[in-house]
Amino acid sequence: MSKEIRLATVKQHNKPTDLWVVIDNKVYDVTKFRLEHPGGEDTLVDVAGRDATKDFNDVGHSSEAREMLKKYYIGDLDAADIPKKSPISATPTEASYDPAAAPKQCCILN
Ligand code: HEM
Repeated sequence: MSKEIRLATVKQHNKPTDLWVVIDNKVYDVTKFRLEHPGGEDTLVDVAGRDATKDFNDVGHSSEAREMLKKYYIGDLDAADIPKKSPISATPTEASYDPAAAPKQCCILN
């Protein structure tokens, strides 16, 4: 079984010289990689010690980039820190909700 790492532990590795990130519930030590990252060192330092799944996906990283992750994998996020999907949000209505198709601005704020 692979090593399970608590989110609180990941949070301690939030410095450029000690840099862990979580992507898709897996923990990566990218301390050395930060200097080679084509997207720059700062982008990685900005997400140091936290869940960078959204940031990583938003960039639209290549399959090569995803393949590179394996090199820096150090363990899985502890199951206790993985948010469980509530049964309510699994209803067909919510599951089929597409934020991209929703109106850009909320009428209440206008
Ligand atoms: C932690 C593991 C990561 C790896 C292994 C990685 C790897 C790469 C690679 C190989 C590229 C070159 C383009 C490509 O192949 O997609 C790239 C580009 C980039 N990455 Fe990452 N990346 C990581 C995390 C992140 C994160 C968390 C962010 C954002 C906070 C980020 C932001 C970017 C940006 C903005 C570029 C585009 C650079 C450009 O085209 O000028 N990366 N990354």
